[in-house]
This record gives sequence, C-alpha cells and structure tokens, in this order.
Amino acid sequence: MDDPDNAPSDGEVERVARRAAFAAEVEASTGINEAMIHRLVHSFYERVRCDPLLGPLFEVRIINWGPHLDRMCAFWSSVVLMTGRYHGRPMQAHAPLPVEALHFDRWLALFEVTARDVCPSAAAALFIEKARMIAQSLELGIAAHRGQMLASGERLSAQHTTGALGGDESGHARRP
Ligand code: HEM
Repeated sequence: MDDPDNAPSDGEVERVARRAAFAAEVEASTGINEAMIHRLVHSFYERVRCDPLLGPLFEVRIINWGPHLDRMCAFWSSVVLMTGRYHGRPMQAHAPLPVEALHFDRWLALFEVTARDVCPSAAAALFIEKARMIAQSLELGIAAHRGQMLASGERLSAQHTTGALGGDESGHARRP
C-alpha cells in the first residue's frame, strides 16, 4: 500500500514534469541527451588529460577518474537539460587552482573542438555558449577569491606570491 507520508508533494510532481518537458524540448531541437553528454564529457577529458598545459593540473587532483567523469556528466545534464542531477560547488573546486587566463582559453579551445567533433552543430553551439558563460563566471570568481576585482574585459592573471619573493597584483591580462 502507498505510504502517504512518502508521497511526493504536488510541487515536486510538477517540478519533475516541468524538467522532463524541458529536457524533451532540448533533445527535440538539438539532439542533446544523456548519451551525447556522456560522449562529449569522456572525449573532452581524454583530450584534457593529454594536454601539456591542462593535463598536469588535473592529474595531481584527480586520483580516480570514474567519479569525476560521472560528476561532469551530471553537471552538463543539469546545465543543458536542467535535470538537477548535479549538486556540487564548482567555484569552491576551482578557487584554489593555480590558473590564469591562458588556462581558461585552452580549456575552452579544447572544449569547443571536442563539442564540434562529437555533437551536431545545434548541440555543439549550445554546449559552447554555456561553457563560455560558466568559464567567464569562474574566472571572475577565482579573481575575486584572490582579492582581484576584474574590470570589464580584464582577464585573470597569474597568482602572485607575496612575501619573500615580493609579488604583487600587477600585470593583469586583457581579453583580446
Ligand atoms: C582553467 C580551466 C579549468 C581547469 C584547470 C579546471 C580544473 C578542474 C579540476 C582539477 C577539477 C577537480 C577538482 C577536485 O575535485 O579537486 C575540476 C572540477 C570541476 N570543473 Fe573544472 N576546470 C577548469 C574549467 C572549468 C570550466 C570552464 C567548467 C564548466 C564549464 C568546469 C567545471 C567543473 C566542474 C562542474 C567540476 C566539479 C566540481 C565539483 O563538484 O567538485 N571547469 N575542474
């Protein structure tokens, strides 16, 4: 017999139905579904791991790639299909990384090439649009975390060490 205490609320049922309808619309207009997200994520991180600039940044932090790839599939599913499968905190994961503008440029370049290789054009365009927006907000967030407020068009610079080596916050790069 059904337990009324465990029954989903009307709001929950409605939310699930709205999400399913949204995902179906996106799939109908772009072809994006979980299988395509899986192909994109796995193919992208294969390339990332071979990349001389980005590969080492990941290899020192990710011991077990299976869970990371599952998390990234859930992330893209939430971003593009609005499935709500991802529950992480991307900003916290990236704030301590020793990255600057050139890392984001390489990440986006690899992502864009992979998306165009693996996905039909409407799907690739949507993934790329979302990736650019998120990359920009991560870049701004990391800068703020380092106490650097980026002006419009200004890019994240290398993290300067202070103290014995006497670094400072000068030398901000600009967007081309
Ligand atoms: C400079 C470029 C980037 C580098 C070097 C980088 C590197 C990393 C690393 C090393 C992790 C694993 C962190 C950990 O588990 O300790 C990670 C996690 C993650 N990255 Fe990136 N990333 C970059 C850009 C991006 C962009 C542009 C996106 C989104 C479009 C993204 C989305 C994520 C997400 C969702 C996670 C999982 C966070 C969590 O829930 O733990 N990353 N990234």
